[in-house]
Amino acid sequence: MNPFQTIIYDKQGEVAWLTLNRPDVLNAVNLQMRDELWTAMEAARDDPDLRVLIIKGAGQRAFSAGADISEFGTAPSVVEARRARRERDLWGLMLSLPLPLIAAIHGFALGAGCEMSMCCDLRIASEDARLGLPEVSLGYIPSAGGTQLLPRTISPGVAMGMVLSGDAIDASEARRLGLVQRVVPREQLYPEAEALAHALAARPAEALRRAKQAALQGLDMPLDQGLALEARLASLALASADAKAGLAAWHRTSP
Ligand code: COA
Repeated sequence: MNPFQTIIYDKQGEVAWLTLNRPDVLNAVNLQMRDELWTAMEAARDDPDLRVLIIKGAGQRAFSAGADISEFGTAPSVVEARRARRERDLWGLMLSLPLPLIAAIHGFALGAGCEMSMCCDLRIASEDARLGLPEVSLGYIPSAGGTQLLPRTISPGVAMGMVLSGDAIDASEARRLGLVQRVVPREQLYPEAEALAHALAARPAEALRRAKQAALQGLDMPLDQGLALEARLASLALASADAKAGLAAWHRTSP
């Protein structure tokens, strides 16, 4: 039974699907969804059998249209929102998950919706997707990591243009800029995400974990420290049972 009201967490073997589930409001992220996402992300982090997490949006129209604007400006919400952010860094938790995360994006992925997708390692979009950070047009700024993640995901100059204009881009432009890695017809979106998830799940888990850690943490380091981190993680990966098995198999099959 799904224990949540605003999301659905559905684990199918090694792959879990997390569905943002407020389709009537284009899966806007309210405080309850934040709390439930936190619980689900912790469950994903602590699940030793889980290999890949896919995030998608319910309904026909959106991955997520961002933070729930109806909660803006109400006194309890401001206090609550600040408390929630202080105590629960949801986006930091997502970025720290050791397993690969895939965002399967259809329709609107705006504000926190776009930002949540950037907390994922891979993004697949359907042809109808529109991604953007519209916060400045509301007199606000992206605050689920957008000002930091977008310049780390695509070229900083193009990212700046998107942050300052608030304009959304379509799927093909997102693909051209590298904001998403693949664009597929709508009906192919989930099969494609699932196939990718299973392909990743078939790879040695520890190697994936170490490679993700090296690439993500290295981004925030000077090159020499990044290379030292890579060397450290490479030694750990090499000592793993998966690496020993992989090397043994290679020696058996190579001439
Ligand atoms: N927060 C709360 N509710 C939202 C929402 C959000 N971020 N985005 C959409 N909704 C709700 C609408 O209020 C509407 O609810 P209603 O049917 O009860 O009136 C429903 O979702 C459908 O949206 P609607 O605006 O009618 O659809 P549209 O096709 O005309 O426009 C968007 C779609 C995405 C362009 C428009 O909803 C929008 O601009 N949303 C806000 C996006 C945004 O600024 N996000 C960042 C927030 S910081």
